Order: sequence, then structure tokens, then C-alpha cells
Amino acid sequence: MKIFITRKIPQKAINFLKNKNYEVSIYKKDQPIERKILLKNIKTADGLISLLTDKIDKEVIDSMKDCKVIANFAVGYNNIDVGYAISKAIIVTNTPGVLTDSTADLTMALVLSCARRINEGEKFLRAGEYTHWKPNLLLGVELKDKIFGILGAGRIGSAVATRAKAFGCKIIYFSRSKNIELEKHTGAKKVPLNYLLRNSDFVSVHLPSTKKTYHLLDKEKLSLLKGSAIFINTSRGEIVDEKELIKILQKKKIHSAGLDVFENELNINPQLLKLKNAVLLPHIGSATNKARTEMAMLAAKNIAAVLSGKPPITPV
Ligand code: GLV
Repeated sequence: MKIFITRKIPQKAINFLKNKNYEVSIYKKDQPIERKILLKNIKTADGLISLLTDKIDKEVIDSMKDCKVIANFAVGYNNIDVGYAISKAIIVTNTPGVLTDSTADLTMALVLSCARRINEGEKFLRAGEYTHWKPNLLLGVELKDKIFGILGAGRIGSAVATRAKAFGCKIIYFSRSKNIELEKHTGAKKVPLNYLLRNSDFVSVHLPSTKKTYHLLDKEKLSLLKGSAIFINTSRGEIVDEKELIKILQKKKIHSAGLDVFENELNINPQLLKLKNAVLLPHIGSATNKARTEMAMLAAKNIAAVLSGKPPITPV
């Protein structure tokens, strides 16, 4: 059986599939696959490993003749028309769990970068401007006793809460359902969205990108943030109205923002790049060797499970 992979992923997973005697072909260039090459290659594939940069829409799914499983190399799957795939009896899987800690760590890196002005300090030093110690140089904020608001109390949101609690923050969260475990371990309290936005010193987004969460943080919601708020997003750019976020950062209506995700990641809004009060990263939440290898292995194991007639390990 044939597996098509839209980008080179960790070799361990490719070997795993080859050892199972699958015919594995991989798009060779280290860039998002061209649409026509994707459409051509998935025609004969029995399984597809896709990336979050690949739009797997109706046209792509209709081109699949034998495909039984699409294994997304990501926990998010907003790049795939899951409903349509399921209607065509194609199973979709993702990679939850294995990137929780790496993404939660990166979230805290952004929190600390904003709070302690790490990027500003580094630029200052590299520019040769550090000539003597100053009592008022690059003063930031501390985390202890601050209110840390988490949007989405799933795996990653909960792992961030554990870390924020260790820094001495009080945790509040907004979620569809109560997370008893989270509350037990961190003393977190479930609150309405507006309350969270009005009262948090740190706001960190950990929601999936769906039709319901699209621009959940719009102009009106963003206007509720405190003047001292630090806003972090390591989930998906589409959850925030980026233009409105840029406006409040330009007008210094909040302290700062730390962003690992953007509304248009292939073409980052140039206004964002001009902001001094934003720390911007190239979507590296899961970018550790451990997480990426485990993501690749989980995707490969999902493919092997489905193609050998077993249930998928992590279906969406
Ligand atoms: C990364 O953003 C992922 O969804 O895995």
C-alpha cells in the first residue's frame, strides 16, 4: 500500500512505515507542497500524512481514490475538512498529547519574554547600548500573585496552568466544561470569558480553531483587556482578530503580546513586525526533537493501524 507524506518528517517514522512494507513517497522540497503536486500524489495513496500548512479541502479529498486515512502531523486539524473526509469514509487523525509539554514550555517562554522584556534587552545589548548598569533599565513585571487567565482548559491549557501556578500565579480559565483535575491541581477557577479578559494580568489562548472560535477575540473582547495585560497566543491565529490586536498594541492599550501563531502565516502582517511591544515567533510551539519525533511516530502508527484494519489511535 502507498503512503504519501507532504514533507520530510523525522526519519524514525518513515523507517517505521517502510519496515511495514508500505511504499512511502515524500515531497522532497522543504516548503509547502504545490497544490497540483498534492492533487497528483494523493490520487493513488492509501494513506496521507499531511502538515498544518496543507489545505485538505473537498477538492483534495475528491481526488483521493483509495485513501483510507489522513494523519495530520499536528494536534490542530483546522486545515482539513474533517466532516467531508468522514462522509467519504476517510478517517482523520491528529497528534494530541505528544506536544503538550513543548507547547506549554514555549507559552511560558513568551510570557517571560514579554514580562521581563527579554527580546528588547537582547537587542539593546547586541546594539552595543549596554554601557553601564542602571536602576531603571528595562523594568518588567513579576508573575507572583498575578492572575493568569487561560482560554481553553484542554491538555495544553492545563499544562500551562501548572507552570503558571509554579510561578505563583492565580489561575482562572474559560472553557465549555469544568476541568475538575485542573481545579484540583492548580486551584483554578472557571469564569465567564468577559470576566477573564477584564481581570487577567496574563491571557493565554489554548483553544482549537473552529467556526465557533473564529475571531472569538474581536474588537469588543480585546477592549476588555487590562492596560497592564500581557496577551499570549500559541494556538491558532484565526481565534484573534489580528488587525484589532495590532491596533491595541499600537495604541499601547495593553502591555504586550507574545505570538507564535498568526492569521496569515505565509504572509505575516507587516504592521506586526513594527511593534516593539510584541514578541513574535515562527510557529515553533511543538518544535523540540522529542515532540516532533513523537508526532511523526503517532501519525505513522495511526496510518498503520487504519491500514491494517484496526481502530485509529487518535482519531479526530
Ligand atoms: C501545531 O500548531 C499543532 O497543531 O500541532
